Amino acid sequence: MMTKPDVMGFFDEDTATWSYVVWDSSHIAKPCAIIDSVLDFESNSGRTSTQSADRIINFITENHLLTEWILETHIHADHLTASAYLKGKLGGKTAISKHILKVIETWEPVFNSAEDTPRTGYQFDKLFDDNEEFSIGNISARIFHTPGHTPADTSYHIGDALFVGDAIFLPDVGTGRCDFPGGDAADSYDSTRKIFSLPDNTRLFVGHDYPPENRSPACLTTVGEQKTSNTRVHEGISKDEYVAKRRKDDAGKPVPKLLLPSIQVNLRAGSFGTPVNDVQYIKIPINKI
Ligand SMILES: [Fe+2]
Repeated sequence: MMTKPDVMGFFDEDTATWSYVVWDSSHIAKPCAIIDSVLDFESNSGRTSTQSADRIINFITENHLLTEWILETHIHADHLTASAYLKGKLGGKTAISKHILKVIETWEPVFNSAEDTPRTGYQFDKLFDDNEEFSIGNISARIFHTPGHTPADTSYHIGDALFVGDAIFLPDVGTGRCDFPGGDAADSYDSTRKIFSLPDNTRLFVGHDYPPENRSPACLTTVGEQKTSNTRVHEGISKDEYVAKRRKDDAGKPVPKLLLPSIQVNLRAGSFGTPVNDVQYIKIPINKI
């Protein structure tokens, strides 16, 4: 019988992000993974803070969990990862899909940060191959490449649960935008079909929620529910239909408020790079006039 992981979700109101702690309660050491953490950042003042990450640390500490993995589904463009902070406090290995090498290649020249954003991806402890298997305690886990939102999005298939990042959102919300560099609506559609190939009772945990007014933020659905009722990609919607609507809806969309800080920090696995006179900086590239 498949072991089901325990899952706790943490919602960040500012960026509508769901972070997760996933663990094996049947294992004596209670090993866990953290997925898609958030470092709070106030861009107007340049202040970082750790309330969101500390909620995760407190949960892990109170439940005596052992942090093995600090995972990212992709290089987020709307929030900074707390992975470096969490690793410092809890240990564990930072990891992401090997496809982020393409994302580094695209974005590193924008920030001119080669000295601390190596193209090798060396800043992460582990770059996962497609379909690579790993484990959390006795629970088997697998890399499930789901590009579209970005070329590097991966989902994590852990026991009966799939952590999908921005590949697909709750049924009444749809899917993640596909207009970032290397993003592709056709890939996004194919990724939803790959997700639909899993058993209907597979639990899906989404990376964001943007709830309509009639409900509060939620994070859990199933493959079966998505197939019948996802507003953008339910069964019966053709690839052409999806791609045309996704492209139309993404056209002219404003970039996320924290795009530039997020990408440069997330490409360094959560680090701010080398300080100057003990001060850390964010670079804002501007257009030349
Ligand atoms: Fe995203």
